[in-house]
Amino acid sequence: MGHTEQQKALIQWWEESSRDLPWRQTRDPWSIMVSEAMLQQTQVSRVIPKYKCFLKKYPTPQECAEAPLSSIIDDWEGLGYNRRAINLHRSAQKIVEMHHGLVPDTLSALLKLPGVGPYTSRAILCFAFEEDVGVVDVNIHRIISRVTGEKLTPEEMQEKADNFVPEGQGWVWNQALMDLGSDVCKSRSADCENCPLSNYCRWKGEGLDPSKPKISTTNPKEKFEGSDRQGRGKLVNALRKRKIACSELEEVMGWTGDPERCKRVVAGLIKDGLVERNGKTGYRLPT
Ligand code: ADE
Repeated sequence: MGHTEQQKALIQWWEESSRDLPWRQTRDPWSIMVSEAMLQQTQVSRVIPKYKCFLKKYPTPQECAEAPLSSIIDDWEGLGYNRRAINLHRSAQKIVEMHHGLVPDTLSALLKLPGVGPYTSRAILCFAFEEDVGVVDVNIHRIISRVTGEKLTPEEMQEKADNFVPEGQGWVWNQALMDLGSDVCKSRSADCENCPLSNYCRWKGEGLDPSKPKISTTNPKEKFEGSDRQGRGKLVNALRKRKIACSELEEVMGWTGDPERCKRVVAGLIKDGLVERNGKTGYRLPT
């Protein structure tokens, strides 16, 4: 099947301006899975060194599955959102138990891995197995909303994304869309003059942006300073170095005088499997 002008324009743009990223030089499914886990909510420049270290230490799901969770959480330092580390570790164990240590190559099997949803499963299918599927992350969601000028349900969005993929070129296509979203068709500033899709775009930077809600439900980014997440991070960081006694909690979490909050947030960490009781008197990273 011939590719449309629109498809050719984007691919040509990408070939001239693509970013060289380490996870684009491999098709190893485990490496792709690690990169996708790290790239969720963490910027590329922070991920690159951690990605390389992690794969040196855990080159296959087997090595990761056999390592204690505490090591994985330790090696996650600087990436934030430690639950992703737990999910990756559990996924590695499941891959060893159920799939002979090989990352599965079907949507249904991938979706059964912890922390792997519609986005990550398709990212693995596309970036490791070179399948022609639409990969819909927030950036690609925004591009498709703008180009089509429509507000789509998640199912419609997935279908559009799948249909846009030029046959046999899913890998390049989705990488190109990711770069377009991060460099050109940005959330707040769309550089339509330099966009290879502007001739085909319904929105073109004018009028109502279909990717934005019609009524301003300004939803300012959740503040980190003073948040529960900040206290969670402080405790996990301290536990990376040593065990923490109950009596130290308030200070370590930055909430002196608020033992109730400490207790509540620690209970959440324990429930998530990020922290364990160390006897009756303290806490440690899970072993
Ligand atoms: N974020 C998630 N996957 C990515 C990729 N393959 N390239 C750039 N950013 C990404």
